[in-house]
Amino acid sequence: AKAQTKVRVENDSAKQVISANIYGHFAEHLGHCIYNGIYVGDTAREIPNTDGIRNDIIAALRKLKVPILRWPGGCFADTYHWKDGIGPKQDRPAMVNKWWGGVTEDNSFGTHDFLRLCQLLGSTPYLAGNTGSGTPQELADWVQYVNFDGKSPMSDLRKKNGHDSAWGVQYWGVGNEAWGCGGNMRPEYYADIYRRYSTFMTDYDPKKPLFKIASGANSADYHWTETLMKNIPTNMLSGIALHHYAVIEWNKKGPDQSFTEEGYFKTMESALFMDSLIQKHTAIMDKYDPEKKVALVVDEWGGWYDVAPGTNPGFLYQQNTMRDAMIAATTLNIFNNHSDRVRLANLAQIVNVLQAVILTDKEKMILTPTYHIMEMYNVHQDAKLIPTNYVSPKYDYNGKKLDAVSVSASVDKSQKLHISLANIDAHNAQTVELDLDANNYKTIKGRILTSDKLTNCNTFQNPNKIEPEVYTKASLKNGKVSLSIPPFSAIVLELSK
Ligand code: AHR
Repeated sequence: AKAQTKVRVENDSAKQVISANIYGHFAEHLGHCIYNGIYVGDTAREIPNTDGIRNDIIAALRKLKVPILRWPGGCFADTYHWKDGIGPKQDRPAMVNKWWGGVTEDNSFGTHDFLRLCQLLGSTPYLAGNTGSGTPQELADWVQYVNFDGKSPMSDLRKKNGHDSAWGVQYWGVGNEAWGCGGNMRPEYYADIYRRYSTFMTDYDPKKPLFKIASGANSADYHWTETLMKNIPTNMLSGIALHHYAVIEWNKKGPDQSFTEEGYFKTMESALFMDSLIQKHTAIMDKYDPEKKVALVVDEWGGWYDVAPGTNPGFLYQQNTMRDAMIAATTLNIFNNHSDRVRLANLAQIVNVLQAVILTDKEKMILTPTYHIMEMYNVHQDAKLIPTNYVSPKYDYNGKKLDAVSVSASVDKSQKLHISLANIDAHNAQTVELDLDANNYKTIKGRILTSDKLTNCNTFQNPNKIEPEVYTKASLKNGKVSLSIPPFSAIVLELSK
């Protein structure tokens, strides 16, 4: 049969490196992400852990290759006073988590614990500073506490708390969602706040200058990006954030699992909007920064639905289905294809919150379809983007149309070519022909994530229902690959010379 989609893989024009940091994650003090999720502390010795961090989660996340992890928020970040989370745990003051369920936290998971988590995962830490309710001094002190090796009040305090050498944290958020929970600021005002706070964030190690990220736009708020780019000199700015969730309607998000095809279509419409958002924010940034020195940092993305029935509305716990796999597969292709400007992104969130890669229930843990997509796609981390050219057929839902097929490709250091493909069509398989523009690929391997229902998910009773399988149906002949992608499925191919 004739292929519906012809993809030209422009093998000769390997482009920029896809920063591994595009595959980043986000851990907020929210619901059971940290407490009773990643961190079980001293109270749950029956769950094997290392310094209070669950061993099963460490092992799963190591396999995932989490390049960078953002913490402690989100909205939480602008209420967080880091000094309350250091020193002997029994002496730490409690705090009320104002944004997420109004629960009281004992501050037992603090800076040392987070940086230990990053060390155990092999991940780069990304600390989100408080510019909403904290002072410039407080943020400057945090930088000194974690980054200064010499003698100073904050490095002495760190040493007293048992950590002699500085951690050298490079990535810093200068506030979060300053337009909303971060202080309800106007962009003109926030631009000055950014300039003020970031001025006192010192580069203690000139070889590792701080990567400072301004709180960015809510989705299509292009005025926000324009105002920041206009008012913050690019030499003060390493990245500018963008938050966009795949959401149907904020006041009518719909169920996490028992959604209809209409719900699926609308979610995917919102997810695919990421492409246009990146293009438009990038066009604004290009005006002020044509050399693309400033990164677009999509430090919150993912599907957001009504919480799972019977769970705390403030905890944002939701199941994760093949719909989420499709959000992840298409969004990561979008990020790869825009990796000249998008050089960091963080899926919201890593454990038990929103589009999580891991869900826990007491001692049990499951990996979600999103986990599997991120694991299959991690071959693109730090590989060189290969441009692809294609016109996608449409996924038609009652006359409304979305691109069905999404593709990205990269070549890694060992010259292996990886091509990730997703078909979001709820009913139809898509046949694809990849023109590799090269005749010297000898072998092809593949993995597929597929399931027979869009609403399927992994559960604590059936944790391995959805798992990647070996895919052998792609044929390679004369530099051309033919394959058929089943409905709502993703495939990653690996070609070697
Ligand atoms: O990820 C949940 C919340 O979504 C974050 O705290 C906030 O930054 C965003 O609005």
